Amino acid sequence: MRTARFTLDPAFTVGQVNPRLFGSFVEHLGRCVYTGVYEPGHATADEAGLRQDVLDLVRELGVTAIRYPGGNFVSGYKWEDSVGPAESRPRRLDLAWHSTETNRFGLSEYMAFLRKIGPQAEPMMAVNLGTRGVAEALELQEYANHPSGTALSDLRASHGDKDPFGIRLWCLGNEMDGPWQTGHKTAREYGRIAAETARAMRQQDPGVELVACGSSAQSMPTFAEWEATVLQETYDLVDHISLHAYYEPLDGDVDSFLASAVDMESFIENVVATCDHVGARLKSQKKINLSFDEWNVWYMSRWQEQATTFAQDDWPEAPRLLEDNYSVMDAVVFGSLLIALLRHADRVAVACLAQLVNVIAPIMTEPGGAAWRQTTFFPFAQASRYGRGEVLDVRVDSPTYETRKYGEADLLHATAVRAQDGSVTVFAVNRSRTEALPLDVAVTGLGVSRLVEHSALADADPDARNTLDDPERVAPHTVDGTAVTDGTLTATLEPLSWNVIRLA
Ligand code: AHR
Repeated sequence: MRTARFTLDPAFTVGQVNPRLFGSFVEHLGRCVYTGVYEPGHATADEAGLRQDVLDLVRELGVTAIRYPGGNFVSGYKWEDSVGPAESRPRRLDLAWHSTETNRFGLSEYMAFLRKIGPQAEPMMAVNLGTRGVAEALELQEYANHPSGTALSDLRASHGDKDPFGIRLWCLGNEMDGPWQTGHKTAREYGRIAAETARAMRQQDPGVELVACGSSAQSMPTFAEWEATVLQETYDLVDHISLHAYYEPLDGDVDSFLASAVDMESFIENVVATCDHVGARLKSQKKINLSFDEWNVWYMSRWQEQATTFAQDDWPEAPRLLEDNYSVMDAVVFGSLLIALLRHADRVAVACLAQLVNVIAPIMTEPGGAAWRQTTFFPFAQASRYGRGEVLDVRVDSPTYETRKYGEADLLHATAVRAQDGSVTVFAVNRSRTEALPLDVAVTGLGVSRLVEHSALADADPDARNTLDDPERVAPHTVDGTAVTDGTLTATLEPLSWNVIRLA
């Protein structure tokens, strides 16, 4: 195999990593909330019903912003059902996931969950623009954020939350372009309601940061036209536009699946181009940033099969939905998606791994039982830990391979982040299923001379997974033989591997 190469130079950078790039997502969907983060009566549950074993893993994962309460769920969400004494909250039909929502976990419990994670956790709250509108968004904002002395802020205090929640980051609805969305809208209809909601929310508090809904996928027929129309209406009123993308191997096309980040990078670049086009049309100096607030590997086609039978069931509470069990190969693709986000840190200001627990998640739980790490847990935890600082511009010279969907793709996908103390971490994926990839990185200008660690996630069996019965089958291992000599880092990347190479 030909050696892959790139050069790192501190003079050539992409941008600073926003800590919000390591966000996640808790939706009222399946067992993400109930028996996921919240399970009163579980052996590890605290007085609020929050599972400590899950909280420990969430901290270890290193998540920052946590989007809530949906997702598709938000388009039927009545925030007032989710506050006040838990025993008197109403049970509701959740049309999005054909379930019964008990509202035992609500806004106050979500905020308590964030506080327990620690100061790195930030709320990212969505308002319902599917079945509701400006008035309800304003009421929720007042309940959550107004200090005191009004009906809704005093109501919050009477519910036990004297201090305002201080929610700064808000999503204006969810996937409003999708026909599956309750209250789905055309771009013009959504642009109008998003603009009016944004204007009113800013009247209440000019300091809020707002995310307008972009397309729910790059493959949507309305993609790009949707963004342009929505931004034309909202450009001066919002800060971010959302992107959502999920990947799976379709029709057995594993080679294209391994290159999923090619699609993710083109999606980001196309949305940036669309934002800037609208900005130019409006003669605006302002730049709209990207909130990639749903991304992951998701075996969605399996869920679509399940959905047909599921919809006939009897509105269950917290059913097992979307509980994908991830392989080593999935984790390598997942790592490559993280690399794609980091490579665009100049414009991707927020990103949320969908989701956090049980539902297409890095953390799994068993009701009344254990919590464990999926394979995807490891790349996320490592990227969140070592991917803080300034992203360096990485242009790879790599051997390539052929894919059905994306044509010729690089076998090497990489990025590098320089921390404030000058240490540098290279994140790299070898997409080859069969061959190790020799790598040379010129690091002369960086002032690093020492390898701290080369860690890799790879396995002789790319289908290996962690399960309830074998929760520690897969974990990263240390790679020998990597060195920095005379200004060059040399390493060998195992076939189908995610790599973290730390230099000091
Ligand atoms: O994350 C699962 C679902 O995927 C979300 O509810 C929705 O926004 C998206 O389609």
